[in-house]
Amino acid sequence: MADRVPVGVLISGRGSNMAALLYASRAQDCPFEIALVIANDPDAPGLALARAEGIATVGRNHRGTPRAEFDQWIDGELRAAGCAYVALAGYMRVLSPGFVDKWPDRIVNIHPSLLPLYPGLHTHEAALAAGDSHGGCTVHVVTAALDDGPILGQTRVAILPGDTADTLAARVLIAEHQLYSRCLADYVTREATPEFLLGRVRELAMALPDSAEKMSHGMPAFHISGGKMFAYFTFDHHHDGTTAIIIKTSGADEAAMLIDRDPELYYRPAYFGASGWIGLRLDRGQVDWEQVADRLQRSWGVIAPAKLRALADFLG
Ligand code: GRF
Repeated sequence: MADRVPVGVLISGRGSNMAALLYASRAQDCPFEIALVIANDPDAPGLALARAEGIATVGRNHRGTPRAEFDQWIDGELRAAGCAYVALAGYMRVLSPGFVDKWPDRIVNIHPSLLPLYPGLHTHEAALAAGDSHGGCTVHVVTAALDDGPILGQTRVAILPGDTADTLAARVLIAEHQLYSRCLADYVTREATPEFLLGRVRELAMALPDSAEKMSHGMPAFHISGGKMFAYFTFDHHHDGTTAIIIKTSGADEAAMLIDRDPELYYRPAYFGASGWIGLRLDRGQVDWEQVADRLQRSWGVIAPAKLRALADFLG
C-alpha cells in the first residue's frame, strides 16, 4: 500500500488509547502509523509500552516550563519525527493556542462523553448525576476551545442500573478503543476522497473573478459566467481510474512541456482537443494546492475575456 501517514500521539499516563491506535496500525491496510509517542511525564506507563513495541518515545516533565515553551518543544519533536497528524490520547494538558495554530485541522482528540455534553473532567459522574440513559465517547478535531471542534465520530454506551463512574468509564473505554482508530483512519485518508478534492478545487475555482459551476459532460466544471469553461473536475471518468483537474495552458507547446517535465503529474486528457488542455492529477499522494491554485488561475487567465482580465489585474 501507499506510504502510511505518520502520526504523533500525546499521552499523560496509562496510554490505553495510544495502545489501541498502535495495535490498529499493525493491520496491513491501516493508513496511519505511530511515528512517535510523547508524554508530559517521563514515567507515564504508556511510554514503556510504546518503547517495548519498538515505537520512538520522548517524555519530559512539563513542571517549571511555561506552557508555550513546553508546547514548542513538543512541536519540534513531532516535526523531527515527520509527523503529519497529532492524536491526543489522554493528554491531560490544554495545548497553547500557538501550538494548535501550527497544526490546523491536524490534531484529533478522544473525549469520554457524547460531546457537546460534558466537556472537561468528571464526564461519567456528570452523565450519571443527570440520569442519562447513555454515556459514550467522541473523537473530534482539536480547535483552540476545550473539547470543541468538528466531531468525527461518536459511540453511545448504555448506562446500566448500578453503574458507578468507574464501571461506566471501563465500558466507555472499550468503546473508545474501537472508535479512535476508525476515526483516525478515515480522517487521515479524507484528503484523498473525491468529495474532499472537489471541495478544495471548487473553493479555489470559485474564488476567481466571475466564475460559476455547472455539470458538463458528466463532470463538475467551472466557467466564466456566460462564457467558456476553464476547469473540469474528473473522477474516474470513463472508468479511467483518475482523479484530476483538466485545465487550459497557454497552448499545445506548454502542455507538452509540462507533461515532459512531470509525466507522473500531468497528462494529455482523452476527448479534449490539442489546444492546450492538460490534466493535473490529484491522486498522486500529497496534493500541492498552491500549484493547483496557480494552474487554475492561469487557466482562467487563458479563457477570460481581455476586459475581465484587465479588471482582475487592476484589482490585484
Ligand atoms: C480516556 O478516557 C480518554 O478519553 C480521556 O482520558 C482517558 C485516557 O486513558 N481523554 P488512556 O491513557 O488512553 O488509557
